Amino acid sequence: MTLVPKIPHILYGGDYNPEQWPEDVWREDVRLMREAGVNLLTVGVFSWSLIEPEPGRYEFAWLDRLLDLLHENGLFADLATATASPPPWLARRNPESLPLTRDGARLWPGSRQHYCPSSRAYREAAAGLVERMADRYHEHPALALWHVNNEYGCHVSACYCDRSAEHFREWLQARYGALDALNDAWGTAFWSQRYGDWEEILPPRAAPTLRNPSQELDWHRFCSDALLELFQMERGILERISPGVPITTNFMRFFKPCDYWRWAGHLDFTADDPYPDPGDPAGVIERAGSADLMRSLKSGAPWLVMEQAANAVNWRQRNVPKHPGQMRLGSYQSVARGADGIMYFQWRASKAGAEKFHSGMLPHAGTATRTWREVAGVGAELARLDEVVGTRTSPEVALLFDWESWWALELPSKPSHDLQLLDQAAHWYVPFWQRNVAVDFAHPEGDLSRYRLVVAPNLYLVTDAAAENLERFVAGGGTLALAFFSGIVDERDHIRLGGYPAPFRKLLGLVVPEFWPHAEGETHEVTLDGERYPCELWSDWIELEGAEAVATFADGWLAERPAVARNGSAWYVGTQLAPAGMDALVERLVREANVTPTIEAPPGIEAVRREGDGRSVLFLLNHTPSAAEIALDGDYVDLLTGDERSGALSLDAFDVAVLRASA
Ligand code: GAL
Ligand code: ZN
Repeated sequence: MTLVPKIPHILYGGDYNPEQWPEDVWREDVRLMREAGVNLLTVGVFSWSLIEPEPGRYEFAWLDRLLDLLHENGLFADLATATASPPPWLARRNPESLPLTRDGARLWPGSRQHYCPSSRAYREAAAGLVERMADRYHEHPALALWHVNNEYGCHVSACYCDRSAEHFREWLQARYGALDALNDAWGTAFWSQRYGDWEEILPPRAAPTLRNPSQELDWHRFCSDALLELFQMERGILERISPGVPITTNFMRFFKPCDYWRWAGHLDFTADDPYPDPGDPAGVIERAGSADLMRSLKSGAPWLVMEQAANAVNWRQRNVPKHPGQMRLGSYQSVARGADGIMYFQWRASKAGAEKFHSGMLPHAGTATRTWREVAGVGAELARLDEVVGTRTSPEVALLFDWESWWALELPSKPSHDLQLLDQAAHWYVPFWQRNVAVDFAHPEGDLSRYRLVVAPNLYLVTDAAAENLERFVAGGGTLALAFFSGIVDERDHIRLGGYPAPFRKLLGLVVPEFWPHAEGETHEVTLDGERYPCELWSDWIELEGAEAVATFADGWLAERPAVARNGSAWYVGTQLAPAGMDALVERLVREANVTPTIEAPPGIEAVRREGDGRSVLFLLNHTPSAAEIALDGDYVDLLTGDERSGALSLDAFDVAVLRASA
């Protein structure tokens, strides 16, 4: 199974914006695309004002010529619906389609994505365009994939206008039915907020001080759903007019505004835009994590890197280049973690506009460049990896990750605002990554039966269904590690009474009567397996009710009290252990849960296996600046060189090996 039936290979290509260039450049483009091993181009993402220069007047001739040219050259199109950046005429005719910020400021045209997700005028205009696009091209031989809109919510994820208020009310009516139920869920007895009429309900606009957190939480849900509605609107049109052509849109890693668990089911496959900062050493782990998320969102199915940078980007304060080998290594990292395609933003670096200093596959200086050589090199290599297409990874460990809990956790007025979900997720992810233990991300209500170990870096908000799911997982023999400040509220952001973490008190055999968040810079120490490790950020006052202490605080007011405890295979971690302590704890959990790493490898070597249909492919990536030796666990064929490999494999600095296990 391939992502795109028309292309039975690893997909390779990028965003192509030919409208920025005269047509003789197009001919050079397609020649060079073939030279670079490209097979798929994302076209039309920002073409709305050219395709529909005035309302209802369409100019398709240029796009016809372009798609024909791609087809004549054996290239395929990931055809965008072009709805991500409305033309200036929409704002002029329908100024109410422009988004309003929390403070009531209007966002004007002249950039991109200047539309209110709830705007009727925008929706009507976008739907009209998508119909015409689908009508025109559904039978075009170059069409391989539909690219709906672009990075939903990237710049404008919420709008606070009156139309959005009305839309929010409709959404709330569907959720709660009666106003009483809403008053109850929002706890409006507090601060005299009781609503007597639906019309009184507004988006959480700028207010004198803390806003109602349950309202804010529902607003997050609504904003994610409002954007999803846009996607579904377009999808519906495409399915009707252009059946059989796969449909996707590009996600943005761990993007807070969109609950991708709710979105993923509506895409034929997930696609992602990884842009880790090449100058940040943690970027490698960040990229691994978002790849694991993309794979997990669709239960392990292959996914697509829709955009990455060939070299530097233009939008950071300092845009450092990717060093030689870094782009290739990142590309393989995604493939190792389930990507069946590598695409870039963008094919040819622009000469005008806000992104002219963003790298392209084809730099301003042309083909006599290292970037071009690396791009063409990766293209040639990926063409040798047909055997990888469709294979999967089956981790034994899952990290629970839930958008609703994320939103609720990071609303104001908590015991400590140093507690942020992505920090906690990274803190837990790193020690697994370092020992090459593959992990999935999982929804707390998802099927956990295939995992041996489940970790909840933080699950502040927990539904009854999720609490039961975790209990069932432990009862079925799984090992669970729940970190501090989990199980605190229900889906309305109301405290779960009865001693924290109330829904897990019995499972864990303990209660937390008090939180002891740390002052800035305050650290303590815990004793774990006879060693002392620093702990940061947060400590819990834990009372054991059947659990046994695994680690205890070594100093301060909580000295001698438990810091980590276990009740059979249900573990509770009541503080943030500094990395060395986390490492020791994860080592212990992995051992107790009988989890096996992909392969034993020296530090800085990433190893991931993809399997399926009798094939097993081991990816080895050297993220260090020196050569490394890895002891192979069997006989392999190197898919990039064709050489047979067994015993010790030497991997150059920043090099990769893609090894198929010999039958
Ligand atoms: C993405 C976007 C592209 C381009 C790119 C630059 O967020 O989808 O259109 O702007 O960033 O890095
Ligand atoms: Zn609006």
